[in-house]
Amino acid sequence: MSDLIIAPSILSCDFGNLEYEVKRLESGGADWIHIDVMDGHFVPNITIGAPVVKSIRKICNIPLDVHLMIDNPEKYIKDFALAGSDIITFHYEAVKEKTPEVINLIKSYNIKAGISIKPNTPSSEIKSYVNMADLILIMTVEPGFGGQKFIEECIKKAVDIKSYVNKNIIIEADGGINNETAIVCRDFGINALVSGNYILSSNNIEDAIESLRV
Ligand code: DX5
Ligand code: ZN
Repeated sequence: MSDLIIAPSILSCDFGNLEYEVKRLESGGADWIHIDVMDGHFVPNITIGAPVVKSIRKICNIPLDVHLMIDNPEKYIKDFALAGSDIITFHYEAVKEKTPEVINLIKSYNIKAGISIKPNTPSSEIKSYVNMADLILIMTVEPGFGGQKFIEECIKKAVDIKSYVNKNIIIEADGGINNETAIVCRDFGINALVSGNYILSSNNIEDAIESLRV
């Protein structure tokens, strides 16, 4: 297995067959399962909550990478942690200067903490927080929906983030990732790729996942 983490997003899956979808991603070579949580406030869309994460945990053996696109994430972290999340990433824009407390809250459950930034948020805004986190998630589309076009400009933030960190950290990219945009991400030293529509609309999950690595 390569060092690059591939985290398929279940946002594009058939939610009526969730167990089948998660299992075919796992057996197709996914390293993590990426779960997009949306509240209809922070983003205009509503998706799933902690009970669904708990159900996925029961049928899945790989890490669950939970991406909270919600206001007041601190209110829900306990629920998502106890549901079996391995990584919880929240949006800096939803908490701003409360970022250190939210990171500490996630870490108090012995799981990894991630900070995400939207396309219009400069990386400099999270400079003082990056070394507290285990993961930085760079959004390469506006959060809210799958199947959008990759915004190449966003991925350049990886250069700044690397210059801020003094430890091993995972830099993850999310949005519009396919076999072509994955090359751009890898060129910028991204360690983890989230991909929804590209993987789940392919005829062969295993080949689609592998195509992001090479
Ligand atoms: C967007 C989500 C993404 C999304 C990625 O708000 O955070 O994880 O599911 O989907 P694709 O790969 O289709 O852009
Ligand atoms: Zn996501």
